[in-house]
Amino acid sequence: MRIFKGNYDKKKEIISKYNSTATSYDKRYRKIQEEKYTIIFSDFLLEKNKIILDAGCGSGLLFEFIVKKFKINQILNYIGIEISLNMLKRFADKCRNLNNNLNVNLILSDIEHLPFRDNRIDSIFSITSLQNLPNISKGIIEILRVGEHMANLEFSILKKNLDLDLLISFLNSKLIDLKIKNIESIEDVIIQGKLIKD
Ligand SMILES: C[S@@+](CC[C@H](N)C(=O)[O-])C[C@H]1O[C@@H](n2cnc3c(N)ncnc32)[C@H](O)[C@@H]1O
Repeated sequence: MRIFKGNYDKKKEIISKYNSTATSYDKRYRKIQEEKYTIIFSDFLLEKNKIILDAGCGSGLLFEFIVKKFKINQILNYIGIEISLNMLKRFADKCRNLNNNLNVNLILSDIEHLPFRDNRIDSIFSITSLQNLPNISKGIIEILRVGEHMANLEFSILKKNLDLDLLISFLNSKLIDLKIKNIESIEDVIIQGKLIKD
């Protein structure tokens, strides 16, 4: 299913782009990304002891935001998946500097091929990452595979070239409590819901 209208299939280019911009990413995008996180967390409660997957975690801005917002210094099972090694290294540096007891696992991997068994994850975030996939539906199906029944899904996807109606019709049968936040001043559409499995 072609949820994006444009030309793509550039995974190597994506890796190279984020590897070369990793050192400047936070400075350039922190504020923009934090606006999206704030919208997501306006009606999402983080539960302790749950496994969180951050798919396309980048340099760990979401993780920093969560740690700060919820004043967490323990009991957080956080997994970051990222295809750019340099972005992941930035995230790893932050974890070392935080010097706390958080259980953070960072994995160099592809959203389209997640290294987990089915039904393992309680909350899945993917913030401004899915639009990079050559085949967004493949990535979403993979994310749904690893989520447990009633897992929280929190996606934020760049609106540019996105066929939102098609995406919503695809997600409608798979999620309940589906919320679409399409705010003019935000470059992403935010999609939230709970995963239903048979
Ligand atoms: C715009 S950045 C967003 C990073 C982070 N989610 C944030 O909120 O700052 C997009 C990230 O998705 C990653 N990415 C792109 N395609 C990916 C894939 N197939 N698998 C895993 N990560 C991917 C990129 O390397 C990049 O770090």
